Amino acid sequence: LIAYEWRDRFDNTEVNGLHAEGFEHEAQAEDWWARVNHHSLGWVCAREDSELVGFVNVAWDGATHCFLLDTTVAPSRQRQGIGAALVAHAVALSKARGGDWLHVDYEDHLTSFYEGCGFVPTPAGLIQLYDD
Ligand SMILES: CC(C)(COP(=O)(O)OP(=O)(O)OC[C@H]1O[C@@H](n2cnc3c(N)ncnc32)[C@H](O)[C@@H]1OP(=O)(O)O)[C@@H](O)C(=O)NCCC(=O)NCCS
Repeated sequence: LIAYEWRDRFDNTEVNGLHAEGFEHEAQAEDWWARVNHHSLGWVCAREDSELVGFVNVAWDGATHCFLLDTTVAPSRQRQGIGAALVAHAVALSKARGGDWLHVDYEDHLTSFYEGCGFVPTPAGLIQLYDD
């Protein structure tokens, strides 16, 4: 059974580990707890027993625009509906907290995932600000 919790307490090592596994990068030592508490409307943790198996971060503009970031499910738990459930929780809670719009951007191969979660495609733009 997977439990989904808005603003759930987590250890930075849990989110750093999950993020590295999900996005296939070297493990980092980010202070996720400080970051999301200072800058996010909220976040959702998915836990199987006590193990963190999924995470999504809802950033915002302080008013009515919310932004979905860092959607991650542990590779061993993917394609079991956890990602869609995480996003559904993020949508419901963003709405409950007064959000009018939830934005997301993603690579082509995740179109079916996000459209399945209810996102409607719209023209959008992105600029890479860092140098390669
Ligand atoms: C994207 C991600 C969060 C999806 O999580 P998930 O738990 O596997 O997704 P779900 O099981 O809820 O998928 C629901 C539906 O979305 C679609 N879908 C999910 N992952 C997909 C993929 N990689 N390719 C194509 N369709 C996909 C399928 O239609 C799926 O239904 P099905 O399994 O019955 O076919 C997960 O693959 C992940 O963590 N990826 C690595 C990190 C990442 O790229 N995050 C997105 C940042 S924008």
